[in-house]
Amino acid sequence: MNAPDKRHLQLDEKALDRARQHLDDGAVTPSYGPWRDEIVKLLNGALATELVCVLRYKRHYFTAHGLSAPRIAEEFLEHANAESGHADRLAERIVQLGGSPDFNPDSLTQRSHAGYDESDNIKAMVRSNLVAERVAVESYRQMINLIGDKDPTTRRILEEVLADEEEHADELADMLKE
Ligand SMILES: [Fe+2]
Ligand SMILES: [Fe+2]
Repeated sequence: MNAPDKRHLQLDEKALDRARQHLDDGAVTPSYGPWRDEIVKLLNGALATELVCVLRYKRHYFTAHGLSAPRIAEEFLEHANAESGHADRLAERIVQLGGSPDFNPDSLTQRSHAGYDESDNIKAMVRSNLVAERVAVESYRQMINLIGDKDPTTRRILEEVLADEEEHADELADMLKE
């Protein structure tokens, strides 16, 4: 078995020294420097999207219950909780990168990729959630491409979130067929 090639790790003595000097900055190491602001910006866009999705799904959850559609309502609640978990992971990563997570409600819908929805019937709710999930899937795919190998930790988080959004979209597409 070959020993791991140190060159691929890009951790020569100089890089290690720089990393030690910046230990106070938490997880932020100098190699993130040039990309950090851009990545934080992307993550804040995704955070706004997740927060709007939480609000939309919560509204749909309570409204669907009122329309005697408890099974679909429960599905909406599950999605609301999943989106809330995504928002938490994104906010946590923004802070790890030394950025500031933007929870400002005034600008939330302008910054979100996906829309809010006030439909009053189940079919329209399911359809609007499906559209929002497809928007989320597409925006996460684009973010993952943009980040490439610049920040593997952020990339892994986004890939896991993307997998959840694809599952959500599939579930909603199935509901529309019923
Ligand atoms: Fe999400
Ligand atoms: Fe989702």
